[in-house]
Amino acid sequence: MKWAGDRRLSQGVATIAGVASASSAARSPLDAGALREAVVVPGGLWRDIRVVAETGSTNSDLLTEARSGLAEGVVLAAETQSAGRGRMGRHWISPPGAALAFSALLRPEDVPPASRGWVPLLAGVAVALALRGQAAVEAWLKWPNDVQVNGAKLAGILAEQAGDAIVVGTGINVSAARDVLPAGATSLALEGARTDRDRLLVGVLGELEHWYLAWVGQRGDADGCGLRQEYQRLCGTLGRQVRVSLPGGATVAGVAGEVDRAGRLVVRSASGLVPVSAGDVVHVR
Ligand code: BTN
Repeated sequence: MKWAGDRRLSQGVATIAGVASASSAARSPLDAGALREAVVVPGGLWRDIRVVAETGSTNSDLLTEARSGLAEGVVLAAETQSAGRGRMGRHWISPPGAALAFSALLRPEDVPPASRGWVPLLAGVAVALALRGQAAVEAWLKWPNDVQVNGAKLAGILAEQAGDAIVVGTGINVSAARDVLPAGATSLALEGARTDRDRLLVGVLGELEHWYLAWVGQRGDADGCGLRQEYQRLCGTLGRQVRVSLPGGATVAGVAGEVDRAGRLVVRSASGLVPVSAGDVVHVR
């Protein structure tokens, strides 16, 4: 795998040798050596990329290691997970080799805890940009961080905390057929997109590094580093009529107005502006 300058692959600047065709590459194993060569560079965020054939959950594994002091910048990818976890206590399932499932360990120590809620949104921006750049699909964010193409879910993100550490897990459906996906989900193959998982992973990590370092450099000020503007540009929820199910069971309905400085979705409801910090959004129309 070779770089041609800028490591943000979504800007179309890297080439990968030895990838035969999108369909064969989709299920060929991730190449840990090539990934490391492409992404782990002196002075960069990423210090190691590990690839395992199978585990329960890459998020759980990295959380355990984070509690034992593992340093920032380690990425763990798995060909398959037996207990992949999603948001709101859901499972995340994918057939072996058909998804890109990985977690990254971050430690944004210079960012005040109140701003750290931006990490999952930042990851959503990275995934959407990499999908646009690498797979040429029109990827949009459904707040907070589902990644959709043509209104169907292509990727999901689960960020979990252990002390100062945040583990960001991403699952992207790459070659899964419709019958193995949950209702309302899609894959790159189903969208007719041609890419391979190594290239996509390098692209996501390049975007993640770019936005994370910019955000940390501004001590978590999402406006100061342009993250909030970029999130809003990519967010297909804004301007839509939405129904949000809140964790306690209540529902908020209205028009999604903006994402505020804290990363909350501000809904213009019949009773006024409601800032939502967690919940499940349905795009009503
Ligand atoms: C969601 O949409 O609900 C989030 C899905 C997140 C799935 C990824 S796959 C890699 C990482 N490990 C996990 O157990 N979950 C995340």
